[in-house]
Amino acid sequence: MVPTTPEEFRRILGRFATGITVVTSHALGGSHGMTATSFTSVSLEPPLVLVCVDKTANTHDVLLNGERFLVNILASRSDHRDTCINFAGKTKDWSLASWTDTPWGPKIDQAVAVLGCRKTKSWPEGDHTIFIGRVEALGGSPGEPLVYYNRDFWRIS
Ligand SMILES: Cc1cc2nc3c(=O)[nH]c(=O)nc-3n(C[C@H](O)[C@H](O)[C@H](O)COP(=O)(O)O)c2cc1C
Repeated sequence: MVPTTPEEFRRILGRFATGITVVTSHALGGSHGMTATSFTSVSLEPPLVLVCVDKTANTHDVLLNGERFLVNILASRSDHRDTCINFAGKTKDWSLASWTDTPWGPKIDQAVAVLGCRKTKSWPEGDHTIFIGRVEALGGSPGEPLVYYNRDFWRIS
């Protein structure tokens, strides 16, 4: 065991393999989206999920002010890798992604799963805020998900 430094903390967390999401919303006008791996299911009944957003992210104020958001779980496709990188930057180019509008937020085409959520609660923890969403609608295109591990993209197969 070693002392917890920010670098070691990040390195160790990289060993936890996750899917990759893009969380979108229409709050505050326009379309907003951000790459996030902090997505987790919380409860089955009622159906609740959470996402943790850095307080310095633009998406933070969007979700704080909004009532609804959409979680897109990306597929193992080269264009979705590009989407992940696109939405992890500060300037998003919506013309690079193929997407469809929904009442919860933009739905990225070919996402393996999409969850339309109504925000029920949020609270700050450290430098992030935890947003809880009640899932109001579900969908997606079955396929292989994109996996994030050790700060890199992987496939299941
Ligand atoms: C693979 C990956 C996962 C990320 N997960 C999160 C996350 O869970 N929460 C978060 O706040 N930022 C996360 N980020 C960073 C944001 O995507 C990044 O800060 C983005 O520029 C925020 O955009 P915004 O300021 O327009 O909201 C992640 C980035 C990458 C590449």
